[in-house]
Amino acid sequence: MRLLVLGLLATCALAAGLAEDLEYEKPTVLLTLLVRNKAHILPLFLSYVEKLDYPKKRIAIWLRCDHSSDDSSQLLQQWLRKSGDLYHSINYGFDDDDATSSYENETSIYDWPVSRFKHVIALKEQALQYARDIWADYIFFLDADVLLTSPQALTALTRLQLPIVAPMLHSEGLYSNFWCGMTEDYYYQRTDEYKEIYHSRKVGVYEVPVVHTAVLIDMNYAGARYLTFDREKLQQMQQESEQQPVYNGPVDDIIVFAISANTSGVPLRVSNEIAFGYLMQPLETTDSLEHDLQQVINLRANMVHDLGAVPPLLKYFERLVELPTKSKLNFDEIFMINLLRRPERREKMERLFDEIGLDVQHFAAVDGKELDAQRVQQMGISFLPGYEDPYHHRPMTMGEIGCFLSHYRIWQQIVQRQLKQVLILEDDIRFEPYFRSNVLRVLEQAEQTPYDLIYLGRKRLKDENEPWVEGTDNLVHVGYSYWTLAYVITLQGAEKLLAVKPLEKLIPVDEFLPIMFDRHPQKDWSAAFEPRDLIAFSAAPLLLYPTHYTGESGYISDTEDSKQVETTAADADEPQPKSDRQQIFANEPMLGESSNVNAGLPQLNAGKIHQEL
Ligand SMILES: *[C@@H]1O[C@H](CO)[C@@H](O)[C@H](O)[C@H]1NC(C)=O
Ligand SMILES: *[C@@H]1O[C@H](CO)[C@@H](O)[C@H](O)[C@H]1NC(C)=O
Repeated sequence: MRLLVLGLLATCALAAGLAEDLEYEKPTVLLTLLVRNKAHILPLFLSYVEKLDYPKKRIAIWLRCDHSSDDSSQLLQQWLRKSGDLYHSINYGFDDDDATSSYENETSIYDWPVSRFKHVIALKEQALQYARDIWADYIFFLDADVLLTSPQALTALTRLQLPIVAPMLHSEGLYSNFWCGMTEDYYYQRTDEYKEIYHSRKVGVYEVPVVHTAVLIDMNYAGARYLTFDREKLQQMQQESEQQPVYNGPVDDIIVFAISANTSGVPLRVSNEIAFGYLMQPLETTDSLEHDLQQVINLRANMVHDLGAVPPLLKYFERLVELPTKSKLNFDEIFMINLLRRPERREKMERLFDEIGLDVQHFAAVDGKELDAQRVQQMGISFLPGYEDPYHHRPMTMGEIGCFLSHYRIWQQIVQRQLKQVLILEDDIRFEPYFRSNVLRVLEQAEQTPYDLIYLGRKRLKDENEPWVEGTDNLVHVGYSYWTLAYVITLQGAEKLLAVKPLEKLIPVDEFLPIMFDRHPQKDWSAAFEPRDLIAFSAAPLLLYPTHYTGESGYISDTEDSKQVETTAADADEPQPKSDRQQIFANEPMLGESSNVNAGLPQLNAGKIHQEL
């Protein structure tokens, strides 16, 4: 008896050992692509589909393209010729002989008349049926508006082994491919949880009432057989199973699908476990292709911000991508201040300028690391008596001195070259979408009033009233603020800044500017500068933000950590550890959410980052 048990154990061990060595094929996936008038995004879309690391022989494609009046079907056919053989199979239909490329009663290609809904629903039903017929393990509905920049996207989703899951996608704003709430009459409902998931303040897989645009369905899950996009089928199913209430909402594939899943007991989930990619926001009926093209620019710029670069396209599609023509907008020059020893920041910014279309001149920053007390003295610099950093209680650092000198030298150049108006950028900024057109609008609004300086990005320090500049809705009179990430400065403004001889009583440049427009609370500092008549505004909302807040992991500041200058006036305390900054910034709005934050909102927590060059 004992022998027998041992024998069994040995067999089990052997079997387990074998099982570990066995390799399983990945589950099969039917990739469903419905395309209409997407020529402007297909090169990106198809490149990222092709770069998915999921084995292509385990992917079958179901592709339909109809009602298109652009090059969509040519591009798809080109792709199929080049890459079709890589996939298990392709089931396609191109309906471009169709003389009428629009639906009945359609006012624009962004219009969704019932006839269009019905057509798309019929196609999705066909795709579902096809997946059942070929016994696909999964069906992946993917709209051509989705840029799956993560090559792991499909692998990561199938690995979750969930009945229905959507990869969370980022848009240029707050739009995404899931809802967190639904009203009783099937409308979108705002929830706090939505933003937490969207901004990855919590990370995981979440049950939600609606997912769309990119949805993976496990066809082996028993409940999947009842899934439908068709309102009548849903109603019929609910009546047959005597479920109440029977759906009486709109003929809308997304909502019907969500209700059919719920009715069949299949939960819908969204995952934000990896950065899957991006999606285009649906346009309004009155919008034009121009809006969509601008969205592509915004998304590509976000890829540079988030990923360092736009992930490469398939070679034969590369030539189809046109970057915007570079412009100085209405400035005589746009300068970017950058330390030569930070080439990675310069390269990233230059990629952004390419994507956004900005003609920017590089300005080599004065490096605080190359300064010492002797050189500072040789340059004739003296410090403002009594200055100390209000948060760290220490005198100016070499980095802060270098930063001041960098800005100062640009002001000098403005005067020497008699440049009427200049935009000065630092190199660690994140542009909000539509930067170019927003800058132009801000400048246009400013035209009616004399001004010397306009902040495009800043940190408000006091909860004080900042009235609108009369006759404008994008400009405020600026209060006490920090940072010099990006500002417009006029010739007259530069003259005013130089006239007070700031190098003879140096303080950090972002303390100096508020003194010059006379909103600095420290009156004894201000008194050293006469006249303080700089006319300063701020864009509202702001047009850009710093890429990192100090205290975030991975943040390197070139100004704060550098060696301090010993001055007689200041009694330098130990600098506070970085973590106290973390406290200060803990309650900051998340980056990216800021497009909806009016610069006029009070910010009570005064944090401080001097120049991070
Ligand atoms: C298009 O509009 C006309 C007039 O309003 C209407 O009679 C017709 O039913 C509409 N067609 C569709 C498919 O909605
Ligand atoms: C169906 O919807 C209800 C109400 O929103 C929800 O409580 C329930 O968990 C959902 N069921 C499934 C399987 O998702």
